[in-house]
Amino acid sequence: MSKIISIHSFRGGTGKSNTTANITTLLAAQGLKVGVIDTDIQSPGIHVLFGLDEDAMGHSLNDYLWGKCAIEECAHDVTTTLGGEPIKGQIYLIPSSIKAGEIARVLREGYDVGLLNDGFHDLVENLNLDVLMIDTHPGLNEETLLSIAISDALVIILRPDQQDYQGTGVTVEVARKLNVPRLLLMVNKVPEVFNFADVQKRVEETYNSEVAAVLPHSDEMMTLASAGIFVLRYPNHKVTQALKQVATKLMA
Ligand SMILES: Nc1ncnc2c1ncn2[C@@H]1O[C@H](COP(=O)(O)OP(=O)(O)OP(=O)(O)O)[C@@H](O)[C@H]1O
Ligand SMILES: [Mg+2]
Repeated sequence: MSKIISIHSFRGGTGKSNTTANITTLLAAQGLKVGVIDTDIQSPGIHVLFGLDEDAMGHSLNDYLWGKCAIEECAHDVTTTLGGEPIKGQIYLIPSSIKAGEIARVLREGYDVGLLNDGFHDLVENLNLDVLMIDTHPGLNEETLLSIAISDALVIILRPDQQDYQGTGVTVEVARKLNVPRLLLMVNKVPEVFNFADVQKRVEETYNSEVAAVLPHSDEMMTLASAGIFVLRYPNHKVTQALKQVATKLMA
């Protein structure tokens, strides 16, 4: 049975794209065939982590939404571009366009959200995926609501920050109304001086939801600066251990 997994946060910059790219890689390293789609049409970025250059992008999600191609034609096999140990499985990236004119056009003209829904299912079926990972734009918009609604599992990321706490409440409520089968919270960028067990307990009690992991703020992650896949560069790091824990819980 294939799974659709969305990674979301109410506020921006929480670590969604890095988490999505790393969990994708961890699952592919187990031998799974994983698709990863950038639905952050307004400010795409996950292609950077997979080393996909703008020139090499070819078809993007935008082209599919404009009826120019089938969604599989937007899928780029990035498995071998990651460096490090060869990966057993496969990673297909469906990027969103990084061209200013194309971003502006999709925002101005909109698109048929039903097509996006069909696209998710076509990808799973036609590429024979075990998992489809969806990277989202922060906050609530049409793409996000759709991705939450169709997901088998949803990870909501938050930082230990008062603005994040309030916004996460909104997203958790939406996820419950949309009956997402599996909802996990992940607390990211936690200062090392905090008591992680306390943070976990407080977040679990506040939202009455499972916290899959509490990740420290990491200088190594900041220094890598989205120039690669963290779990491949730092296989024994605390952050990698925590991301593995999230991946395992998602597939449970
Ligand atoms: N645990 C961490 N420690 C330190 N820096 C981190 C950590 N997680 C992510 N970052 C950094 O935070 C920044 C934002 O990460 P990322 O782009 O993944 O967030 P995002 O939620 O996708 O942002 P956006 O909402 O803009 O899409 C990046 O510079 C990334 O390297
Ligand atoms: Mg992002």
